[in-house]
Amino acid sequence: MRTQVLLSALLAVPAVRAASATDWQSRSIYQLVTDRFATTDGSSPSCDTSNRVYCGGTWQGVINKLDYIQNMGFDAIWVSPIVKNLEGNTTEGEAFHGYWTQDPTSVNEHFGSADDLKSLASELHKRDMYLMIDVVINHLAAPSDPPSYTSLYPSPFSSQSSFHTECFINATDYPNPPSYAGNQTRVEQCWLGDSSLPLADTNTEDQTVINFWYDWIHNTVSNYSVDGVRIDTVKHVRQDFWTGFKDSAGVWAVGEVLANETVYVGPYTKFLPAVLDYPDWFPLVSGFMTPQGNLSALVETYKDTQSTYGNGSFSGNVIASFLENHDQPRFGGQTNDQALIKNAMAWPFVQDGIPILYYGQEQGYQGGADPANREALWLSGYATDKPLVKHAQALNAARKAAASANSQFYSTPLKFIETTTAHIAVSKPPMLALLSNEGASSSPQWTVASAGYSANEALVDVVSCTKITADSNGGVSVTASGGNPMVIVPASSLNKTGSVCASLATGTQSSDAARLGWSSAAAALFATFLLVKALA
Ligand SMILES: *[C@@H]1O[C@H](CO)[C@@H](O)[C@H](O)[C@H]1NC(C)=O
Ligand SMILES: *[C@@H]1O[C@H](CO)[C@@H](O)[C@H](O)[C@H]1NC(C)=O
Ligand SMILES: *[C@@H]1O[C@H](CO)[C@@H](O)[C@H](O)[C@H]1NC(C)=O
Ligand SMILES: *[C@@H]1O[C@H](CO)[C@@H](O)[C@H](O)[C@H]1NC(C)=O
Ligand SMILES: *[C@@H]1O[C@H](CO)[C@@H](O)[C@H](O)[C@H]1NC(C)=O
Ligand SMILES: *[C@@H]1O[C@H](CO)[C@@H](O)[C@H](O)[C@H]1NC(C)=O
Ligand SMILES: *[C@@H]1O[C@H](CO)[C@@H](O)[C@H](O)[C@H]1NC(C)=O
Ligand SMILES: *[C@@H]1O[C@H](CO)[C@@H](O)[C@H](O)[C@H]1NC(C)=O
Repeated sequence: MRTQVLLSALLAVPAVRAASATDWQSRSIYQLVTDRFATTDGSSPSCDTSNRVYCGGTWQGVINKLDYIQNMGFDAIWVSPIVKNLEGNTTEGEAFHGYWTQDPTSVNEHFGSADDLKSLASELHKRDMYLMIDVVINHLAAPSDPPSYTSLYPSPFSSQSSFHTECFINATDYPNPPSYAGNQTRVEQCWLGDSSLPLADTNTEDQTVINFWYDWIHNTVSNYSVDGVRIDTVKHVRQDFWTGFKDSAGVWAVGEVLANETVYVGPYTKFLPAVLDYPDWFPLVSGFMTPQGNLSALVETYKDTQSTYGNGSFSGNVIASFLENHDQPRFGGQTNDQALIKNAMAWPFVQDGIPILYYGQEQGYQGGADPANREALWLSGYATDKPLVKHAQALNAARKAAASANSQFYSTPLKFIETTTAHIAVSKPPMLALLSNEGASSSPQWTVASAGYSANEALVDVVSCTKITADSNGGVSVTASGGNPMVIVPASSLNKTGSVCASLATGTQSSDAARLGWSSAAAALFATFLLVKALA
């Protein structure tokens, strides 16, 4: 009897690992398209994005390249959807991206076996990294109209009644509050896609379908030891569907609500733990794209985010911030100015939410709109000496250093202490970020009187690895050479034996140790220890 109770306690150990919003708050996410990231045997097949066909990336390939990701300081990855997709060519090519589900109960064998996916999770967990998977709930895909429900899909989707009645969403349906109401019912219940590639809209009002999806996410998270979920096309499903969904998932979930209005996106944070920060992405891109951009628009939108998001109160883990993703033209393809790119790239790492970097940005990839923005990373040779690889590494290090010096770093909302259309100074103690959009031929001057440091404190700009000394009032007066961003932290928060600005560091603290809760392995070991002790 006693043994039984103890054994069930041991069997419950995997639950220890279920990663909550708080666990995710300190994380930094590397987003990758599995088909385009790395091959199993390390080969570099040609990959013309315009062909829209599978190029050969696999989960085993990802495992082989985890050092590359981890060495930049990322401690989580987001992989493209894992389930079986439509096979063969369609009017829009092959389903290499994973967003055309045919059978949610099987894995996409182009990427490997179910065991390969489990190995990816376990290899990540050995490194104390997290696995986030992308899931599509709103629709299944079909190669013809109407879909051949019975032959195409498994139960319950083999029946037409598991889908909303077919009608296609059109541009006039989308709301633009407060000025334009659109028709949210049609956004939720009509279909995406078109008659040559319809995306059959699952009937998320039907109890059988609801039960299917809630069980499915529970089992998927459990089968593959998933730590977090990125949810596709969230605005196309009624909001209150998501409460039960995220409860069934039991791990942090971030929803894609593609819209530019905080008043439209914010309410979804009452139903899901987090949303991708699309409202701030629009002014982020336009603000840093040229010296004519307006950074005040980013500031205004962000303040709105802070004051209206969250299920009662704002916390950083209700947003995940990004500069690029698989749906949008790459930032680096729209300007050649490396200083502008570095400034824009810094934003996701200095704001309150969880930063995401889309694979290839670090290699200076420039692909335009889909499908050009889904380049094969192996064509870069995974170079680690590229300026933007170093930049990503510095930005991740700054975040971890700040957190090692202030245990409240992640949960303390940032303050803007200087804002003009061309400059923003962001204070998130003890990090001070100085961003500008004047470009590589400029030398922005910064005088931040109340930066919050102690008198004459030794500081480091991690972007340039330059030493800075606070003035007698703890303020900072600096010039940003080459128009680059400056991301400043105390020298004492950087590790002397770390990989970023080590020669200027005066700290000995391991930011890893400060950040970590228990790793899954440690927790499992401890549970085993308790069991053995109790049985002895
Ligand atoms: C896939 O089909 C499209 C049109 O349906 C065609 O243009 C394209 O060449 C085909 N691609 C391949 C690789 O067969
Ligand atoms: C979009 O849908 C609405 C509502 O069904 C319809 O009135 C309108 O004609 C459609 N517009 C287009 C361009 O198809
Ligand atoms: C929105 O679309 C639904 C479904 O087509 C329709 O019943 C409803 O009347 C529309 N609402 C408005 C305000 O047009
Ligand atoms: C989870 O694994 C079980 C046992 O192998 C299997 O029956 C089930 O289909 C899997 N579910 C999902 C959603 O992967
Ligand atoms: C959002 O986009 C719409 C349509 O492009 C535009 O009219 C509106 O001004 C934008 N809103 C914000 C807050 O940028
Ligand atoms: C928001 O709060 C309600 C009421 O406490 C709770 O049921 C719901 O799960 C919460 N939603 C999120 C996303 O945390
Ligand atoms: C910049 O954006 C702010 C906030 O949206 C706006 O008030 C201001 O007029 C804009 N300035 C310029 C020069 O466009
Ligand atoms: C500093 O960082 C290095 C590399 O991350 C780590 O190995 C070392 O343990 C850290 N130093 C201390 C004193 O924790």
